Amino acid sequence: MDSANDGGGSRKGAPAGPGTYYGRGLPYLPIEPWPGKIIAIEGTDGVGRSTQIRLLREWLEVQGYGVVETGWTRSTLMQPTIDLAKASNTLNKLTFVLLYATDFADRLEKEIIPALKAGFIVLADRYIFTAIARARVRGVDRAWLRNLYGFAIVPHLVFYLRIDVDTLIHRLLQSGGMDFWESGMDMKLADDIYESFRTYQSQLLEEYDALAREFAFKPLDAGQPVDRIQQKLRRHLGAFLAGTESPTPVPL
Ligand SMILES: Nc1ncnc2c1ncn2[C@@H]1O[C@H](COP(=O)(O)OP(=O)(O)O)[C@@H](O)[C@H]1O
Ligand SMILES: [Mg+2]
Repeated sequence: MDSANDGGGSRKGAPAGPGTYYGRGLPYLPIEPWPGKIIAIEGTDGVGRSTQIRLLREWLEVQGYGVVETGWTRSTLMQPTIDLAKASNTLNKLTFVLLYATDFADRLEKEIIPALKAGFIVLADRYIFTAIARARVRGVDRAWLRNLYGFAIVPHLVFYLRIDVDTLIHRLLQSGGMDFWESGMDMKLADDIYESFRTYQSQLLEEYDALAREFAFKPLDAGQPVDRIQQKLRRHLGAFLAGTESPTPVPL
């Protein structure tokens, strides 16, 4: 991403490290080594992120960590607007991308940064990579997107729940079906939702795989049983946290 250093982000030429801005950052908010951590779980629709985050949260809280969850379109400012725009299907590419970026910016300032300052573990149900992948399959320029998200903070860990499209379809058919947006029906890739879902999700998976290589995600096979995935997540995260400072007690 942009390697300028206005807000305490990465130095010229050096890759941005965890807890710093990817690029220019927020121009009025220099970043500091705040005690909290951002742990992101990435992966496509229905891959099992919510299931794993619920279990991780329980495990972390039992150990005395304070946990905050954040996820896309959960910004109180932007959620109604995004829902409205989706319902009327009037989004063009640029408004689609900018609405999501605004949602992220709102959550960054209102939820993520305060939590980092207070020493919480932020469990992010998807991070900027989902937004980048969705925009990429809609043809938005890669470098432009990276620059746009230069205000984001580099997570301490990014876990990538990886699945193949057949396993994903099988799972979704068992658990309630495919929705319009998860199927990329706005892109008019195919007439029926099933074919559209397959094409759209295959393209998204390619983008996630490219991002996984570039941003050093920790991949996990999402086709495994829930408990097995959780065990691996806990092992990785436990080792990471063991190397950082002691747990922040949850305020009573
Ligand atoms: N490892 C798994 N194996 C089989 N089914 C799973 C697994 N993880 C989650 N599921 C099921 O798949 C569906 C989607 O899971 P969810 O955690 O809501 O996904 P996401 O938050 O990524 O959209 C749910 O019905 C859930 O019970
Ligand atoms: Mg979910």
